[in-house]
Amino acid sequence: MKIGNVEIKNGVFLAPMAGVTDLAFRYMCKKYGAGGMVTEMVSAKAICYGDRKTAKLAYISDFERPCGLQLFGSEPDIMAKAALIVFDMFHPEFIDVNMGCPAPKIVNNGEGSSLMKNPALCYEIVSRMKAALGDRCPITVKMRRGFDKDSINAVEVAEMCQKGGADAVFVHARTREQMYMPPVEYSTIAEVKKAVKIPVIGNGDIMCGRDAVKLRELTGCDGVMVGRAAQGNPFVFDEINAFLEGRDYTPPTNEQKRDCVKEHIARLIEDKGEYVGVREARKHVAWYIKGQPGSASMRNRVNLAESTSKMMSLIDEAFGF
Ligand SMILES: Cc1cc2nc3c(=O)[nH]c(=O)nc-3n(C[C@H](O)[C@H](O)[C@H](O)COP(=O)(O)O)c2cc1C
Repeated sequence: MKIGNVEIKNGVFLAPMAGVTDLAFRYMCKKYGAGGMVTEMVSAKAICYGDRKTAKLAYISDFERPCGLQLFGSEPDIMAKAALIVFDMFHPEFIDVNMGCPAPKIVNNGEGSSLMKNPALCYEIVSRMKAALGDRCPITVKMRRGFDKDSINAVEVAEMCQKGGADAVFVHARTREQMYMPPVEYSTIAEVKKAVKIPVIGNGDIMCGRDAVKLRELTGCDGVMVGRAAQGNPFVFDEINAFLEGRDYTPPTNEQKRDCVKEHIARLIEDKGEYVGVREARKHVAWYIKGQPGSASMRNRVNLAESTSKMMSLIDEAFGF
C-alpha cells in the first residue's frame, strides 16, 4: 500500500508508543520486517518553542525509513508551523496527527483523543497543515473509534480529515473511554474503510500473523498497525509478513532471541548512554524474557542491574547461555 507516493511494504506498521518506540526499538522492528514506522508523539508547541529534548524524540535514522513523525497539539496554526519545522529538520516520509492519545494530561488540554469531540477542528488542523506542507510530505491521522460509547464518530472524523487533505488514517478500534481495555470493535474499521477513499490502516490487539490476516479479511483495511505485541517481540513482524504472504513461518530460536535482545539493548545504550540506557533497558528485557523459565525472579535481578556488562550477562543467563 501507499501513503501518498510512499510505498509501505505489506502495509504493516509499528504503532507509535510513547516511552517505548524509540530509535533502538524502531531499528529492531524494522530489522525484523516492519514496513512502516511512526515516532513517539512529539509536542507541536514544544517544537515551535525550539525545545531540543523534544526534537531528539523526533530524530529518524535512514535505516528505519519510511517513517512518519507524530505531532500532538490542538491549535491549527501551531500544528502547521510545527509540521514545517519537523519536516525541514527530519524529513519524515509522512507527518501524523495524534487524535487518539487517552492520557488525562493530554485530553484535559484538548489534545489527542479529545480532538475527536470536535470534527470541525480536526478538519481545520489537517487542512492548515496541508496548506503549509503542500506536496512536500503526506499527512496521516491516528484516531480512535470515538471519544466514548455515546460518541462513536470515527467515520465522521475520518471523512473530515480526508476533506482536509489527509492521505491515510490509522484507526484504533477502541474509544478513549476504553483506554486499552477490550473489546476492540473491528466493525468500525470496516465502516471507515467503506466511507473514505484514502487508505485505512487498522489497529488494536493484533498479536500474531493470524490476527493480521483476520483483520484484513474482516475489514478490507489497506494495512495493519501493531503496538504492544511488538514489545519484547520484534519477530512479530516477520510472522505477520509470512502470514500475509502465505509463507511458512519459523519462530526464532532461543539463540536468535538472545542475540536480538542484546543488539536492542546495545543500541539503546549507545543512543542514550549507560546510565539512562540500562535503566530504560530493564522494561524491554522484562518483556523479552517473559515465558522463559524463571522469568519472574530474573525480572527482579534485571531491575537491579546498573551496568551494561551486568545487563548483558543477565540476558545470556535468562536465555540459558
Ligand atoms: C505505552 C503506550 C504508549 C503509546 N503512545 C502512543 C503515542 O505516542 N501516540 C499514539 O498515537 N498512540 C500511542 N499509543 C497507542 C498505540 O499506538 C496503539 O494504538 C494501541 O496500543 C493499540 O494497539 P495494540 O493493541 O496493537 O497495542 C500508545 C500505547 C501504549 C501501550
